[in-house]
Amino acid sequence: MIYLKTDEEIELLRESNLLVARTLGEIAKIVKPGITTLELDKVAETFIRDHKGIPGFLNYNGYPNTLCTSVNEQVVHGIPNGVPLKEGDIVSVDCGVLLNGFFGDSAYTFEVGIVKPEIKALLDATKASLYEGIKMAVEGQRLGDIGFAVQSYCEERGYSVVREMVGHGIGRNLHESPEVPNYGKRGYGIKLRQGMVLAIEPMINLGKRQIVQEKDGWTIRTSDRSVSAHFEHTVAIRKNEADILSSFKFVEEVLTLQS
Ligand code: MF3
Ligand code: CO
Repeated sequence: MIYLKTDEEIELLRESNLLVARTLGEIAKIVKPGITTLELDKVAETFIRDHKGIPGFLNYNGYPNTLCTSVNEQVVHGIPNGVPLKEGDIVSVDCGVLLNGFFGDSAYTFEVGIVKPEIKALLDATKASLYEGIKMAVEGQRLGDIGFAVQSYCEERGYSVVREMVGHGIGRNLHESPEVPNYGKRGYGIKLRQGMVLAIEPMINLGKRQIVQEKDGWTIRTSDRSVSAHFEHTVAIRKNEADILSSFKFVEEVLTLQS
């Protein structure tokens, strides 16, 4: 069953997602060679709690941390650890918050120092594909239109789309119906309606699309160990254009100052 949200509920979801966005902005300030993903996790947890939020992933199905930090060939659900990030790595930082009874969920893949041009291009394409998907997230379109937009954008550029992991509805629960695949057929799937709130999260690989799960029971990585990128926004379906409830504004302000 799909829970449609009222305008008031959407404003609460915007607050949760704003705290996620600000948390990712704090992470942007400190991602650099030598820092560990566990240090990033501590900063995020402290920042969220200082702003009256609860880390949204912590203890979810037993998940042990605040962030999912997925490095290089890791696709999603990487568990923060004590290994320092190295120059040339990329790290997807996925953050969830529970605030006023509603969840926020957003992810950004950061460059650690200087990254190879082919990897930078993968990041640019994955982020652009997220916005292509979001363009389709309006009342009257269908779920398959979102997936088609993401998939065609990425595959035209030679990248592959992870199939087994998908986006999701979000609200009082982190994961609600419907599932939001990053592949699909135009005109297929359920009709999008005002009040649906979706987390759209393309996971795009430089190599083959196949993935495996590590023995830790969480980390998903590419089978061929090729690099993978991940960006996520939470959006509300409206009549003319999607209302993006999360934001990369705080991250991108920091990154612009650094470049
Ligand atoms: N954005 C990720 C997802 O929706 C967050 C996973 S949270 C975890 O799958 F707790 F399951 F890791
Ligand atoms: Co998500």
